[in-house]
Amino acid sequence: MSSTDNPSPHEASILHSWEQNADAWAHTVRDGHIESRRLVTDRAIIEAVLDGHPGSVMDLGCGEGWLVRALADHGIKALGVDAIPELIARASEAGGEFHVTSYDDIITGRWQRRVDTVVCNFALLGKDSVDKLVAALPSLLARGGRLIVQTVHPLVASREQVYEDGWRQESWSGFGRAFPAPAPWYFRTLASWIALFANSGWHVREMREPLHPATGQPASVIFVLQRR
Ligand SMILES: C[S@@+](CC[C@H](N)C(=O)[O-])C[C@H]1O[C@@H](n2cnc3c(N)ncnc32)[C@H](O)[C@@H]1O
Repeated sequence: MSSTDNPSPHEASILHSWEQNADAWAHTVRDGHIESRRLVTDRAIIEAVLDGHPGSVMDLGCGEGWLVRALADHGIKALGVDAIPELIARASEAGGEFHVTSYDDIITGRWQRRVDTVVCNFALLGKDSVDKLVAALPSLLARGGRLIVQTVHPLVASREQVYEDGWRQESWSGFGRAFPAPAPWYFRTLASWIALFANSGWHVREMREPLHPATGQPASVIFVLQRR
């Protein structure tokens, strides 16, 4: 069964939301409107990738492509894939190798290219789609290859809400531009992330919690995983 058969309404609306938000997202990233990215998380994900001295990197859910360009500045051969054609068009215009490819293309084996590191920067948003993707990714990597995932820190992101897995809605308050559509995403506790990776062929090598300099709280969590 394909991951797009009978998806939950939330799951199905993730890509629809990103189609609508593509323009606002590209401007927000390129204009540096997200403070935590400027101050902490951009550098943190670049360092996590560079620390593994990769020969080839795939940025999965690359958006408008900033990370591929940043890695190229460090001499790393990287390519980016994303399901949203408008984001891939903008990424390609700015230079580098980019492809319109969805997580479903990887899950179903339509995307076959092998690399030695896969990176997902704030791009694992769904429930079933992400469960299946994380289980499919080892096949794109040689034994020992790395998957690096940066995501919101569950303890910080849950704030006053109950600390349990479930669908949330990004309302975009606090972002620099008007976003036309709310964006659904699936909240996972730290224990759920670890269980997902452990049950999908990954060895958790390291967990990083980069701190926001103003709040002293984690700005994100980074999982450095190795194919078993
Ligand atoms: C929060 S943005 C992050 C973009 C980029 N990684 C960055 O750091 O700026 C999430 C990205 O994940 C992509 N995405 C979400 N679900 C996807 C799917 N099923 N297949 C491909 N891309 C997907 C969206 O299109 C969007 O570009």
